[in-house]
Amino acid sequence: MTDRIHEIENSARAEMEKVKDMPGLENYRIKFLARNGLIGELYDQMKTVPAEQRPSIGKEINELRSLVQSFFNHKKSDLEHVSGPKAEQLDLTLPGRQRWIGSKHPLTHTLEEIKRIFVGMGFSIAEGPEIEDDYHNFEALNFPPDHPARDMQDTFFISDKVLLRTHTSPVQIRVMEKQQPPVRAIMPGRVYRNEAISARSYCLFHQVEGLYVDKGVTLAELKGTVVSFAQQFYGSNIKYRFRPSYFPFTEPSAEMDITCFICGGKGCKVCKQTGWLEILGCGMVDPNVFNFVRYDPEVYTGYAFGMGIDRIAMLRYGIDDIRILFENDIRFLQQFR
Ligand code: DAH
Repeated sequence: MTDRIHEIENSARAEMEKVKDMPGLENYRIKFLARNGLIGELYDQMKTVPAEQRPSIGKEINELRSLVQSFFNHKKSDLEHVSGPKAEQLDLTLPGRQRWIGSKHPLTHTLEEIKRIFVGMGFSIAEGPEIEDDYHNFEALNFPPDHPARDMQDTFFISDKVLLRTHTSPVQIRVMEKQQPPVRAIMPGRVYRNEAISARSYCLFHQVEGLYVDKGVTLAELKGTVVSFAQQFYGSNIKYRFRPSYFPFTEPSAEMDITCFICGGKGCKVCKQTGWLEILGCGMVDPNVFNFVRYDPEVYTGYAFGMGIDRIAMLRYGIDDIRILFENDIRFLQQFR
């Protein structure tokens, strides 16, 4: 019996060398490892072994079976990884898979254009936090506590004194706190307002703030700058007008309108038949604001402006629902390659 076991072991070794493919391996398995294979027969023959030899012979057969099983397992994984049927099916002449290419968000396109224009006029770019304190968002911008102007902006409060900024104007304060005049910067970013959500308004949107402070800055320079911006951005043939307005942090304050670039000023749905679109708020920095940041209002003057960019992007790209800007729907985003 022991001789037979050695004989089978030798032939299992020799035949394993000859196995070159999966069908060959299957034949090998049937010959040695299947229930009716050579090793199976050995177990059947245990009946004929004298009782006192059975434990040691049984052990030898078990060892033989695990040895052959391990030959089989190794060969199987070799065939699968190196030269198995999968490898044979590899067709190197097939064209490669096309890579997904991302696209810039329409807001990014719009913002990049705005930045390019202002950088060209000598402005630098500054940023500030979206989680703000009451002091920067309101108080230092000359909104006293309980002032009704705070109601112009429905605020998300995090606690009594901490909130999500309702505009980018607090970045003006942060820039002036860090730097002495001259200051000439634009400040883009996200802002938040607790408004009823609809196709026209969302709880978050984007603004670009502008600030220029130096000795002798005038209202004429403010007008020159924002008009030059509007002509570069919307086209040199637009008409514009300034209307008096009110913001706590500027005095005097104004809003700037341009002729509707959808209908050219004739009147349409977008401009509500007026022919005009409001594009920004602006004014001369209120001396009270300078007092908060310890700039001397007797020495320095400055102007500021602020505009929303979501509506600009919507008009440019013909988007009629602001919410789609925030949904990350790939079918929408892919259109801006
Ligand atoms: N912060 C104002 C708003 O959100 C916009 C604004 C108006 C900014 C006039 C300014 C400004 O800097 O001078 O409605």
